[in-house]
Amino acid sequence: MTTRAVYPGSFDPVTNGHLDMIERGLNVFDHLIVAVAVNADKRCLFTVEERLDLIRRSLGDRPNVAVDTFSGLLIEYMRKRQVRVVLRGLRAISDFEYELQMALMNRRLAPEVETFFMMAGESYSYLSARIVKEIASMGGEVQGLVPPAALEALRRKFGGTR
Ligand code: PNS
Repeated sequence: MTTRAVYPGSFDPVTNGHLDMIERGLNVFDHLIVAVAVNADKRCLFTVEERLDLIRRSLGDRPNVAVDTFSGLLIEYMRKRQVRVVLRGLRAISDFEYELQMALMNRRLAPEVETFFMMAGESYSYLSARIVKEIASMGGEVQGLVPPAALEALRRKFGGTR
């Protein structure tokens, strides 16, 4: 039996923390779908196409990872793709409340869907796409926090980080 999971998120942009989750997720699941949320409510720096492209370029050629988008409810997407596991990362205690709320709400909406949490790698426990964007927008150094494709994209958006 092939075990599959959906790793959903905004990925605005993909960070080394996300890539670490994907890498370690593949130690647990045979196949991952990285699902980029098309969220009308959330103002993203990068378009969905840009976010997809950055993930694809950062992952390289991996037959056991698919990159896709979804809009609307995550559980509807899960049902459409016939996947029953949502993979999410936990960095700090501060993530817990939001993640618990989402996991329980998703379970209420779709009891057949289970959320599987993995702790972020310790070098990424303080890393978030939001903080990366803030630092990059003010000219700070984000090399080592995001893959080269995202670093280049941030430099293009903000006219060059150091
Ligand atoms: O990377 P993020 O922003 O933490 O990812 C959050 C995401 C996209 C996984 C979450 O907002 C989501 O699932 N959005 C889809 C809409 C939905 O299903 N909302 C109800 C969840 S309880």
